[in-house]
Amino acid sequence: MSILSERSKFKINERSFIDFDLIGPKDTTDKLVKYYFNNNMNKTYIILNFVKKVRGEYKKRFFRMINLTFGKHAVRILINGIKRGANDIWICKRIAEQYSIEATDQIRANRRVKMLERYLGPEILQDAKIMDLGGEDALAHNILFNKYNVKDYHVLNVKGEYYHRRNLEEHFAAKKAKFMWYDGKRLPDNLPVYDIIMMNNVVHHISIHDLKTLIDSMKKHAKYVIIKDQNIKDKILHEIYVIQHMIYDTITTGKVAAPYIEQYSAEYIKSLFSPDDWSLIKENIDESLKNYNMSYVLVLHSK
Ligand SMILES: C[S@@+](CC[C@H](N)C(=O)[O-])C[C@H]1O[C@@H](n2cnc3c(N)ncnc32)[C@H](O)[C@@H]1O
Repeated sequence: MSILSERSKFKINERSFIDFDLIGPKDTTDKLVKYYFNNNMNKTYIILNFVKKVRGEYKKRFFRMINLTFGKHAVRILINGIKRGANDIWICKRIAEQYSIEATDQIRANRRVKMLERYLGPEILQDAKIMDLGGEDALAHNILFNKYNVKDYHVLNVKGEYYHRRNLEEHFAAKKAKFMWYDGKRLPDNLPVYDIIMMNNVVHHISIHDLKTLIDSMKKHAKYVIIKDQNIKDKILHEIYVIQHMIYDTITTGKVAAPYIEQYSAEYIKSLFSPDDWSLIKENIDESLKNYNMSYVLVLHSK
């Protein structure tokens, strides 16, 4: 359907505006989730309203995020859609038409391997047993297997709580990397001790209550832990992050997706590892608003 024929359907609905500024990050997500499931996405204008109200460095950052995550064409779609008063599903669907999950997977896997190389180094990676907690694909495994002969690459993920980008059981059945569902709260006791447990962009999906229990159970199964996540302490940046997820999850799953998103500071994550038992061997905390990849990486070693 052309933009013009769809255009007649767009009407800005006052009720679809969520005033994110009045509420904190956790509430923002809860509100968004409730809102989506109580409304039809054809009637929501979260992206449009956000772009209209956001200013200055935040606006630049929003468009930089769209460009880096979804490509230049997505920026054009967004600008076009905003001029025409498009709703959320229209924008997500148009972006999805030109988006490749496979290409994104490869970029993400390369990034993950680079992170492991940079923060742990080849000696630790050689022949390592690795757990990718909250992993979704086996591409990093392919690279690590060829380069470092990794012995084990075990992916654990949680069923149902999140819209996965693909059928994980099917994907992993055809790969050498092992895959298992777990309850998302505690690692099963019968798992071995891994050289490395990695959590890449996962902790922001876990509630504060579950995160502590999960990390406690993880400590029994890891020599090194590497955690990377977003370093966001600001409401508007959080809002940008929620919108990015919303677009991403909607385009990759084809369903209306409103993710659960918390923000934890690097300091909070570090506080979950007692210095009596764990040493922080590396950390990198990026606080620059200008940098889209504003994130932290923490590497801990069991004493
Ligand atoms: C943004 S994706 C990141 C995927 C992958 N780690 C990567 O870097 O490409 C977040 C993933 O975290 C998973 N997740 C959410 N809660 C989890 C939990 N409690 N335990 C493990 N994984 C979880 C989701 O199912 C999803 O696959």
